[in-house]
Amino acid sequence: MNEPKKIAVVGTGYVGLVTGVALSEIGHNVMCVDLDESKVESMKKGISPIYEPGLDELMLKNYTEGRLNFTTNHEEAFNGVEVIYIAVGTPEKKDGTADMKYINAVCVDIANNISNRVIVVTKSTVPVGTNEQIEELIKTNTNVPFNVVSNPEFLREGSAIYDTFNGDRIIIGSDSEEPANVIAEINKPFGLEIYKTNLRSAEMIKYASNAFLATKISFINEIANISSLLGANIEEVAAGMGFDKRIGSNFLNAGIGYGGSCFPKDTKALVQIAGGIDHNFNLLKAVIEVNNKQQLLLVEKAKAYYGSLKGKKVAMLGLAFKPNTDDMREAASIVTAEELILAGASIIAYDPIAMENAKEVLPEAVEYANTVEEALNGADTAFIMTEWEEIKNISFNVFKKHLIDGSIFDGRNCYSLEEARLSQLDYHSIGRPDVLRRKILV
Ligand code: UGA
Repeated sequence: MNEPKKIAVVGTGYVGLVTGVALSEIGHNVMCVDLDESKVESMKKGISPIYEPGLDELMLKNYTEGRLNFTTNHEEAFNGVEVIYIAVGTPEKKDGTADMKYINAVCVDIANNISNRVIVVTKSTVPVGTNEQIEELIKTNTNVPFNVVSNPEFLREGSAIYDTFNGDRIIIGSDSEEPANVIAEINKPFGLEIYKTNLRSAEMIKYASNAFLATKISFINEIANISSLLGANIEEVAAGMGFDKRIGSNFLNAGIGYGGSCFPKDTKALVQIAGGIDHNFNLLKAVIEVNNKQQLLLVEKAKAYYGSLKGKKVAMLGLAFKPNTDDMREAASIVTAEELILAGASIIAYDPIAMENAKEVLPEAVEYANTVEEALNGADTAFIMTEWEEIKNISFNVFKKHLIDGSIFDGRNCYSLEEARLSQLDYHSIGRPDVLRRKILV
């Protein structure tokens, strides 16, 4: 690596903290800034505020070796730095547009605290044109020279550290060559493909990528819904499609829809961005609509199976929006729990990691179990919401032993139909034929 750079990263959410830790791991001197004092104190002790496999270890290592530090003080953080990464949130506003209040506040802070030329790098997902506004806002508040570069993030929660060193590309958007080259040089040790674009293209690449992946999921979910009615098996269909390199085999897992802090927010934001220039993004609107319906599919299936869900006790296994994270944002378990309770069912829930966060967002009536067995014991039926390894490994004998009714609604296709047939339980999954005892007995 060339000379290590002195870098500040503002915001220690998923994107900011992983960025800061990763940049220090490749040798740069990084100061992470967050307004939250208790968060900063616990990060200094090596406790990360988020659950992300591998993050705590790398954080502690680089902190101990003196390349990584944390502060609440912007003046201290920006003192003499060459590069400032903006990694604060852009939450969704009521109308679906991205809220820029945190970004704007950081810009004013940057302007008020820099004393030498810096490159401001935007990691946060921001609507097309935002980096130009960032430039304007900083410029109106300082005379110190600076450049703005867009460097969108493509990490997945739960595998963020792995993705940092094994991602597919690094996008660097800039309207001038020199700062883009500096940021490329900083990122070189990651050993990933670097692709340089103009500012607006970089911003659009992020939204377009997330929207495309969300489209892939809604598409395969629709094919799954049709397949199950026609007697096809979505796993075979997806595998068969995936052989075609133009389609690719990744991201074709049918299930109860996408959740998380990114796809739901970014798809809605892109619809709004398009609407802002009078373009009706019909395709993406349909993707969102399909996903909203898909998240409720297990409840629909259970209603069709039982007739009424009144008085039924449902063991909900897995609550996070996907495995290996404690993130509950836009998880299918939220709308499913609300709908089940509306239908008169009761819920006992279990998740290996996300239970504490779940308690904040699931309806109050939901009860919680400490183990899978405790959740299943005395429940009528099990709803599988997240494909955690622990949940995929539950043997059918365990379901059989504890469930009163012996029916399973699997929203993530965790088990093979073969196993289900042998189990003599009623097994419903996504895009595959139901396995029903009465059919086997006939
Ligand atoms: C997503 C993108 O994958 C990252 O590239 C991007 O950087 C990130 O958003 C972001 O914008 O910050 P993430 O939200 O962590 O990452 O999660 P994914 O692994 O992409 O999964 C999203 C949702 O899609 C999950 O609910 C998952 O269960 C669902 N999914 C994914 C499916 O239903 N089927 C699939 O085949 C794949």
